[in-house]
Amino acid sequence: PGTACPVSGHGPAAVPPCPELFTWEFAADPYPAYAWLREHAPVHRTRLPSGVEAWLVTRYADARQALADTRLSKNPVHHSEAAHGKGKVGIPGERGANLMTHLLNIDPPDHTRLRRLVSKAFTPRRIARFAPRVQELTDALIDSFAERGEADLIHEFAFPLPIYAICDLLGVPREDQDDFRDWAGMMIRHGGGPRGGVARSVKKMRGYLAELIHRKREALGEEGADDLISGLIRASDHGEHLTENEAAAMAFILLFAGFETTVNLIGNGVYQLLRHPDQRALLQKAAAAGDTELLAAGVEELLRYDGPVELATWRFATRDLTLGGQRIAEGDPVLVVLAAADRDPRRFAEPDVLDLRRRDNQHLGYGHGIHYCLGAPLARLEGQAAIATLLTRLPDLALAADPDDLRWRGGLIMRGLRALPVEFTPVRK
Ligand code: HEM
Repeated sequence: PGTACPVSGHGPAAVPPCPELFTWEFAADPYPAYAWLREHAPVHRTRLPSGVEAWLVTRYADARQALADTRLSKNPVHHSEAAHGKGKVGIPGERGANLMTHLLNIDPPDHTRLRRLVSKAFTPRRIARFAPRVQELTDALIDSFAERGEADLIHEFAFPLPIYAICDLLGVPREDQDDFRDWAGMMIRHGGGPRGGVARSVKKMRGYLAELIHRKREALGEEGADDLISGLIRASDHGEHLTENEAAAMAFILLFAGFETTVNLIGNGVYQLLRHPDQRALLQKAAAAGDTELLAAGVEELLRYDGPVELATWRFATRDLTLGGQRIAEGDPVLVVLAAADRDPRRFAEPDVLDLRRRDNQHLGYGHGIHYCLGAPLARLEGQAAIATLLTRLPDLALAADPDDLRWRGGLIMRGLRALPVEFTPVRK
C-alpha cells in the first residue's frame, strides 16, 4: 500500500492509499474517503456496486458547476450502457412504468413546463399554512413513545413523520395513509436493489395514485378540495394542464423525493446533535427560547455536515466534455457527491467541524440549478419542527447504543441510519 488508489489505480506515487469505497466501513463514515478523492482524484471514475461505471465529482466548485451544466442530462436515454441494454440506473422497480417522466429524469423544455406547473400548486404559502399540522403530527408521534423512556427514533419518529405529512399535503385520506406507510417502508428497507417487494410496492402506489387522481378530478368542483393533488390537477400555465399521468408521476416523485430524505435529515441530524453536546445545548436553548433564526441555521448546518443525500441523482454526458480537468465521454454517468462537496475546505472553513452558527453556509444539500429541491420549504419545516420539539419535550435525550454499533444503510444516493435507539426520562403526555 501507499502508492495509488487500489480501487482504480489512480493517484501518483507517495500518495496515501485511497480508502475503499462502498464497503460497510465506508457506509458508516464515508468522509475520509471523500477527503482523499477531493485531494487526489476530484473527478474520479469508479465501478459502482451495481457494476455501472460512473464519475464521482467531489470538489465544491466542480460539483456546483456539474449540477447546473446543461451538457449533463438527467434523461437516462443518454446513458451509454442504457443505450446498449446493459447496466441499471434509476429508481428500482420503476423501469418501464409510466412514472418515469418525473422532474428528476427530464431536461428542459419538458422540465421547465412541469416544474412551472407544479410550482403553482406546491407554493411556499401552502407549506406555511401546513405548519400547524406538522407540529400536531410531531407531537402525536412523540406522545406515542414519551411514557416509555426509550424509543427507536428512526422507526417511531423520523420515518412516519414525513410519510404522514406528505400524504396529508397531497390529500390521501387518513384511512389509507397506513398503506403508504407500508409501501414506503418496503421501499426504504430494500431501496437500491431490484427486489420484488419494492417493485410490488411501487406498483400498488402507482395504482392507488392513478385512482386517487381520477377521483379528485371528478370532485374538483366540490368544497374543500384544497389538497395538493387537486392543486396539481387545477394548475394551468398558458392554458396547459398536467395530464393525469403527469399528475400521478408528480405525486409519486413528491412522495419518493420527500420521504427518505426527510427521514435521514431528522435521523442524521438528531444523531449528530447527540454526538456534539455543546452544539446540542445551543440548539436546545434556541428551541426553548423560540429563537427560530438559530434553529433554521442549525438545521442547515446539520444538512451540510451530514446531509441525507450523499450523491445527487444521476446525470449523463450528452457529449464529450471536460470537468475539473478530467475528460468525460459522451454517455458516461456522472454522480455529484454532495456529501464530499459540502466538506470541501476550499469552500468551508473548518469543514469537519459542526458549527450551528456557521455563516456563509451555501451548502449543496438541496442541490443547485434547475433541479434544486422543490420540497426544501417542506423539508425545512419538518426538520425544524421535529428537532426542536424533540429537544424541548425530551430534554435529557441520549443515545442508547455505542455509536460504533449503529448500522448505516448501504444505499448509494442516500445516507441514513437503520435505527437510532435513544433513552430519556419518561414524560407524561
Ligand atoms: C430535488 C434534497 C426533501 C422534492 C432534490 C435534489 C436534492 C434534494 C439534492 C436535487 C437532486 C439532483 O439535482 O439530482 C432533498 C433533501 C431533503 C429533500 C436533503 C430533505 C431534507 C424533499 C421534500 C420534497 C422534495 C420534502 C417534496 C415533498 C423534490 C423534488 C425534486 C427534488 C420534486 C426534483 C426537482 C427537480 O428536478 O426540478 N432534493 N430533498 N424534496 N426534491 Fe428534494
